Amino acid sequence: MKGVIFTEFFELVEQTWGLDMVDDLIESCDLASGGAYTAVGTYDHGEIVSLVQELSRRAEMTIPDLLRTFGEYLFSRFVVLYPQFFEGIPSALDFLEQVEDYIHVEVRKLYPDATLPRFEITRPKEEQLVMRYLSERHLQDVAHGLILGCCKHFGDPCDVRMEAPDADAAVRFVIERQPCLETA
Ligand code: HEM
Repeated sequence: MKGVIFTEFFELVEQTWGLDMVDDLIESCDLASGGAYTAVGTYDHGEIVSLVQELSRRAEMTIPDLLRTFGEYLFSRFVVLYPQFFEGIPSALDFLEQVEDYIHVEVRKLYPDATLPRFEITRPKEEQLVMRYLSERHLQDVAHGLILGCCKHFGDPCDVRMEAPDADAAVRFVIERQPCLETA
């Protein structure tokens, strides 16, 4: 897993729970890296799992809630770190529609060893997007948070529904843009 995920995770922990929490997590988890991450480095995926489990215990938040919160925060950081991916894209649905065929393709060029999920994306109608998420890492709650963060960033009021895993353990997100209420 790329270091940028770890550095942003620690940033969120520091902002929300303080630097002591970051130190406590590093001390409690037996991390091969010792917790010294650089954005371009690559680290064992198991380390983020241990960190999230430990934070869930200490912060008394469920793991899905934490991962969703992290995903939402991560999206706001992607906006700052990778502005080039946002140029000329007018809406959340237009952005999300391109995650598989454009965004993650470009991410792969930046980080050839990135471990990316696969999305099967369809747009049944202008106001609706369906994303089927497949990954052996099962970070669907992070994906959920990223989608919510994306809708927030574009200021698009969207209803985001995550369906239960199907027979292939894939999760489907149904994202529907809500009509704007006209104010008189
Ligand atoms: C500017 C936008 C985006 C950038 C720069 C970006 C970049 C990345 C990077 C660097 C990773 C880590 C790869 C690794 O650890 O080796 C990643 C993983 C991931 N991305 Fe994206 N991403 C973006 C948008 C999105 C969006 C909108 C979604 C969800 C709809 C998404 C879903 C995920 C998930 C769930 C993972 C975790 C790995 C997995 O599930 O297997 N990404 N992405």
